[in-house]
Amino acid sequence: MKHLLSIDDLDGADGIEEVMRLTDSFMEVSQRQIPKVPTLRGKTVASLFYEDSTRTRLSFETAAKRLSADTMSFSVSSSSVNKGESLRDTALTIEAMGVDAIVVRHSSSGAPHRVASWVDASVINAGDGWHEHPTQALLDSYTILRRLGSLVGRHVAIVGDIKHSRVARSDVAAFTALGATVTLAGPPTLLPPSLEGWPVEVSHDLDALLPEVDVVYLLRMQRERMTEALLPSLREYTATYGLTVPRARRLRPDAIVMHPGPMNRGVEIAPEVADLPQSTIVEQVRHGVAVRMAVLFLLLAAEPSAGAAERVRALAAEHELEPLVPEGVR
Ligand code: CP
Repeated sequence: MKHLLSIDDLDGADGIEEVMRLTDSFMEVSQRQIPKVPTLRGKTVASLFYEDSTRTRLSFETAAKRLSADTMSFSVSSSSVNKGESLRDTALTIEAMGVDAIVVRHSSSGAPHRVASWVDASVINAGDGWHEHPTQALLDSYTILRRLGSLVGRHVAIVGDIKHSRVARSDVAAFTALGATVTLAGPPTLLPPSLEGWPVEVSHDLDALLPEVDVVYLLRMQRERMTEALLPSLREYTATYGLTVPRARRLRPDAIVMHPGPMNRGVEIAPEVADLPQSTIVEQVRHGVAVRMAVLFLLLAAEPSAGAAERVRALAAEHELEPLVPEGVR
């Protein structure tokens, strides 16, 4: 795999499960006293973010540093984009400095694909418009696996502004590939005009849906992407689709509450619900670093012919480290 632009680049359950196994190994590295391995020494990872980010940007940079890669960070607000430099020229300029991977976030769907067509470096989609956010879906899948053991036969409700959500698109692809059933819940105006080809059910009755699900995944109300009036008011949205305290009581005791962040506390999720033990929001961020280490490893360190765990063990032996993956795990 040269680039990670979409969940489809992982070729279904096998590829996603390979990332999950590698993530287990890198979770172990992250818990060490010195959470660092020399795996990507000599490699350089650049962040090319045309949109704001806290979690994705910091966790890619942390992941690259924990793998001993050099990092280069680009911020639109202090760059020559403000002098009119194009995306193509910016990407080629960064590549000319010698980078092995470029992590791209952009408000236009397809921008990372365009960058991948211009540069020789590996390109990772860190969120493009309404299209995809594949590493978010991988860290979400990993979080469900850690909490619930498996996605097979699990029922996930994704609630809210599906229309503008790249997270929903990547999550539906990853969760269903791993065997879950997904129901989308939200007002008709916040669903895509057509759901043809989406392997999902749809519900407009969150109260009826909640007792049936293992996971309720709340999406942020993306007011910055709404160019038309799609809701009477946020207050009405919260009354119908917000995970309020009374509504959270309808969940089964073992169900979990997820959100990609950043949250609008008091809109899609009540502050008290965000802080419940069933909420995995902070855990998702923690897992994000190890997931992104796994993705950088696969793109920049892996030999295509060997199994992923075998490659981690070989690297550990080469650098005289404790094995990252136990013998017997493929
Ligand atoms: N979940 C997510 O992508 O958060 P950031 O926008 O802070 O990166």
